[in-house]
Amino acid sequence: MAEQVKKPLKITETVLRDAHQSLIATRMSTEQMLPIVDKMDKVGYHAVECWGGATFDASLRFLKEDPWERLRKLRDGFKNTKLQMLFRGQNILGYNHYADDVVEYFVQKSIANGIDIIRIFDCFNDLRNLQTAVKAANKEKGHVQIALSYTLGDAYTLEYWTGMAKKIEEMGADSLCIKDMAGLLVPYEATKLVKALKAGTKLPIEMHTHYTSGVASMTYLKSVEAGADIIDTAMSPFAMGTSQPATEVMVETFRGTEYDTGLDQNLLAEIADYFRPMQEEALKTGLLNPKVMGVNIKTLLYQVPGGMLSNLVSQLKEAHAEDKYYQVLEEIPRVRKDFGEPPLVTPSSQIVGTQAVLNVLQGERYKMVTKESKKVLSGEFGETVKPFNKEIQKKCIGNTKPITCRPADLIKPQLAEYEKEIAQWKQQDEDVLSYALFPQVATEFFKYRQAQQEKVDVTSADTTNKAYPV
Ligand code: CO
Repeated sequence: MAEQVKKPLKITETVLRDAHQSLIATRMSTEQMLPIVDKMDKVGYHAVECWGGATFDASLRFLKEDPWERLRKLRDGFKNTKLQMLFRGQNILGYNHYADDVVEYFVQKSIANGIDIIRIFDCFNDLRNLQTAVKAANKEKGHVQIALSYTLGDAYTLEYWTGMAKKIEEMGADSLCIKDMAGLLVPYEATKLVKALKAGTKLPIEMHTHYTSGVASMTYLKSVEAGADIIDTAMSPFAMGTSQPATEVMVETFRGTEYDTGLDQNLLAEIADYFRPMQEEALKTGLLNPKVMGVNIKTLLYQVPGGMLSNLVSQLKEAHAEDKYYQVLEEIPRVRKDFGEPPLVTPSSQIVGTQAVLNVLQGERYKMVTKESKKVLSGEFGETVKPFNKEIQKKCIGNTKPITCRPADLIKPQLAEYEKEIAQWKQQDEDVLSYALFPQVATEFFKYRQAQQEKVDVTSADTTNKAYPV
């Protein structure tokens, strides 16, 4: 009997990044993560995604934590596991384009503080917006994974995806990720896509999807059968809904097959036990809305990511216009077409969503145009797969000449200026990067940090002086 050829599937665990970003507004703190790190380190994950995306902003803004300190602590704890981050190309972890010197320094410091794998993407799939980050990561000897933002539309054919994969390989990526942030990739389409990518490139292929539309675990099954090498999953208490398929379920699915991950289900169960009370607590406080745990088929009907749908509901609520929900849902694909049919992912999802809301509420399309929409139509976010709607472009930006070069070519170096601005707060090299991305939020954090330190100093001074009452 011929021996079965083993192609063990690799697992990237997302519970410390995407899972809590998708389900509980990125509110998991370092303190909540550290006690389980030792056990997670024994699992044998391909990688643990634990940094980047919205975690950086949320740490500074809501948790009053230094994100760099979190990274160093996780690095200390994970002795055998690769750490992965999500990086938005020229947007880094923010929402604008930054100068090349900021991008390069951010990559350098991410790797120096413990990141092994950098997953880099651009919301328009404009590869020019990835160049600087990719080169910097290559230089620092990090593993460069380029992610293609998956979406649907006339332009997004198998030829488009394989063409992009070839370019990515030439750019110096070590692996390729299909990043399906909205859960739009259905199982049999995944078969076709992965087969085409496998035929078109030698790069390992990682699948990233969300359970929003309910098909994610089937999509993984078909992807793995078609040759995908790695899948992104989340420990069950923070899985499914708008998060990833559950790690334990996918491990069990492939047990005893040629794709057997070899991961220990008992160890995974202990890790799930650790996270479950956290999930229950989040349900109790309302941080975790049971609504996001269900299947949202509208995401497939309107091709709108789950996160965008919930933003939409709250925007309309604020404007007392909840009855306009379906009108806005129909307007989103039209705005997306006007804007060259880009994928809807941070920040393009917010830009298109907000403009669609304005178009409906104003009763006239593009009567009011956001600053960001103007930036898109001026080419400041890069090139979209299809041309912009010329008429709309003219209406929104008038006679301004759109740019066609790589947007960052027009941004002067920024670091030296930022260094000056934060001199009084600086406690570590990395502070300038926090400030470059989120000037206000970082400054508030620096003030908070200093106040905390002064408090500690006062307390310790009090103890020393106890014997000398004044
Ligand atoms: Co994701």
